[in-house]
Amino acid sequence: MIVILTGAGISRESGLPTFRGVDGLWEKARIEEVATSSALRRDPARVYRFCNAMRAAILSPGVAPNPAHYALARLQAEAAGEVVLVTQNIDDLHERAGSEEVLHMHGEGLKARCRRCGFVLCWEKDLFGSEDCPECKARKALRPHIVLFDEEPLYMGEIRRALDLCGLFVSIGTSGSVYPAAGFVSLVRARGVRTLELNLEPSLNRGAFSEAFYGPASEIVPKFVNRVLSGKHAPNSGKV
Ligand code: APR
Repeated sequence: MIVILTGAGISRESGLPTFRGVDGLWEKARIEEVATSSALRRDPARVYRFCNAMRAAILSPGVAPNPAHYALARLQAEAAGEVVLVTQNIDDLHERAGSEEVLHMHGEGLKARCRRCGFVLCWEKDLFGSEDCPECKARKALRPHIVLFDEEPLYMGEIRRALDLCGLFVSIGTSGSVYPAAGFVSLVRARGVRTLELNLEPSLNRGAFSEAFYGPASEIVPKFVNRVLSGKHAPNSGKV
């Protein structure tokens, strides 16, 4: 089994911004004002506006999967063993590229969730917090289906089981700043499993990976996938 973890860097060449770095979203907005559950209680309109802007960006006409997303969909379809795709991204670019099973541990920007009953539904319009739940009919109950900073990530049971079983862990386009995702590499490495970083630049936890390759995801991810599918991805081979 292979576990792949993706982050904002894989969608950068698709036209979506990353969070950190010079053009990152956190240069323009403060996490504690737009992306925590206390911000949601204190100033819900501001959190909703921020989430509405991220949803609009995902849906903007120029945004589309890039060769890295397509390569991972191909890997899932053609690899001999199971490929578990875990993403921190709230965009739907893995799905648009053809990936069928994607564990969105930080939620999904194009979905809303009922605060009362937990019902999740597709949602592509702006969300204002005044919307009723279509399932349990609770009033003003819908919120973005996005995990805020002090909330528990989703699918952690499935992810931990996959981390316990995998023989290769690959991290793509993530800075290693946010836990628990940033800690996955150390959990897997403790079992002696190969761990590979594919990123534009060394991440914060570069030292925890057994191998690393740097460059734009649209170039290095298809190369990596070709090597896995042709059986050439030997450990420490020195090449993607
Ligand atoms: N190809 C590969 N990697 C890239 C590219 C590219 N074209 N462009 C940027 N990167 C790399 C950056 O070098 C950086 O290391 O992607 C990484 C993006 O890091 P972050 O912006 O921190 O994104 P991510 O790691 O996904 O953030 C984790 O933080 O704010 C939260 O919930 C948000 O899910 C997000 C989490």
